[in-house]
Amino acid sequence: MTTDIHEVVRERYAEAARSVLSGESCCAEDGNYGSDLYSALEREELPDAAVMASLGCGNPIAVADLHEGERVLDLGSGGGIDVLLSARRVGPTGRAFGLDMTDEMLALAQRNAATAGAMNVEFLKGHIEAIPLPAASIDVVISNCVVNLAADKPAVFREIARVLRPGGRIGITDIVADDSLTPEQRRALDSDRAAVEDLLTASELPLDGLEIALPTAVVARAEAAVVGCAAVEAYGSVGLLRSVVVTPDLRGTGLGRRLVEAAEALAAERGIAELYLLTETAKAWFPRLGYRPAARASVPTELTASPEFTTACPESALLLYKRL
Ligand SMILES: CC(C)(COP(=O)(O)OP(=O)(O)OC[C@H]1O[C@@H](n2cnc3c(N)ncnc32)[C@H](O)[C@@H]1OP(=O)(O)O)[C@@H](O)C(=O)NCCC(=O)NCCS
Ligand SMILES: C[S@@+](CC[C@H](N)C(=O)[O-])C[C@H]1O[C@@H](n2cnc3c(N)ncnc32)[C@H](O)[C@@H]1O
Repeated sequence: MTTDIHEVVRERYAEAARSVLSGESCCAEDGNYGSDLYSALEREELPDAAVMASLGCGNPIAVADLHEGERVLDLGSGGGIDVLLSARRVGPTGRAFGLDMTDEMLALAQRNAATAGAMNVEFLKGHIEAIPLPAASIDVVISNCVVNLAADKPAVFREIARVLRPGGRIGITDIVADDSLTPEQRRALDSDRAAVEDLLTASELPLDGLEIALPTAVVARAEAAVVGCAAVEAYGSVGLLRSVVVTPDLRGTGLGRRLVEAAEALAAERGIAELYLLTETAKAWFPRLGYRPAARASVPTELTASPEFTTACPESALLLYKRL
């Protein structure tokens, strides 16, 4: 999973860096992102290509309060805009490090540093989840719109705590998701399939027909791992709720209920008005979420032809129903 996220993110920013390296603009300016967030004076300090490559969502220098002689580390330094601004503020006795995983961004940043004549900067290749610097070696960690892209955010903060000297400071500008994600935003990704299969297998739930349900599945994540799932096989205006599972450590925390509610919302958004389900293992749990027993004869034929009905679930499974 972590590798998948790194690869998708890396490819996107490699493309952005290649555009700037070839003289094109890479980055939409809409007032919320990029170089608009810096003052005209700050922009004048920098090579055009560094300003053009700005992909941030804030100005961490504005919150970091840098001083002469300090050692600054910029996580996900991109084209180097914040490293170069930091380098000026910490002066020749200080040092500004930029860390990025994308070769093309590192090449662009090196070129911008050379154009700016900055001598006290250093660009490092690596992941912000495993910072290639010693413990207690940095005074200030800054970052601009990168932590949201990190595959393992707790690892990023552990690493920040490790590299900061005692009393060190953090200046991060970023985007955070509150609890208002839409059902569509909670949807499972194609790359979640293996993790969902592992969860189902560990709970001895069937994998048959999972591919039909994954486009209408929601997952819960913790520290980059998939820790829960609820999926719906869609057959026009009826659906089959299935693959409801929570990793054992997190059971009893309300996660199962929230997953089912999110799957119901996603199903409703897709035009599904009625949900059926078959369960052997949670006969007493689904009724707590509003599911009521139904007679097998009442099930629409699209559903009875599905893999869950035909192969996966034994006759003894309880059939439940809910109108959304
Ligand atoms: C069923 C399951 C998804 C519930 O997830 P969860 O996150 O534990 O559920 P919640 O935290 O929302 O609800 C917890 C409550 O339901 C009860 N509960 C959980 N699983 C239950 C079950 N199988 N039968 C009856 N009650 C159950 C808990 O005892 C708890 O009760 P409390 O609130 O009185 O303490 C989870 O137990 C699981 O993954 N089980 C294995 C897979 C499975 O059987 N899935 C159903 C396939 S049809
Ligand atoms: C949105 S851009 C921001 C760049 C720069 N901070 C700025 O403000 O212009 C994200 C940058 O972070 C890098 N990045 C994303 N995830 C990373 C990770 N896990 N480890 C290291 N670099 C990462 C990308 O390569 C890209 O250069």
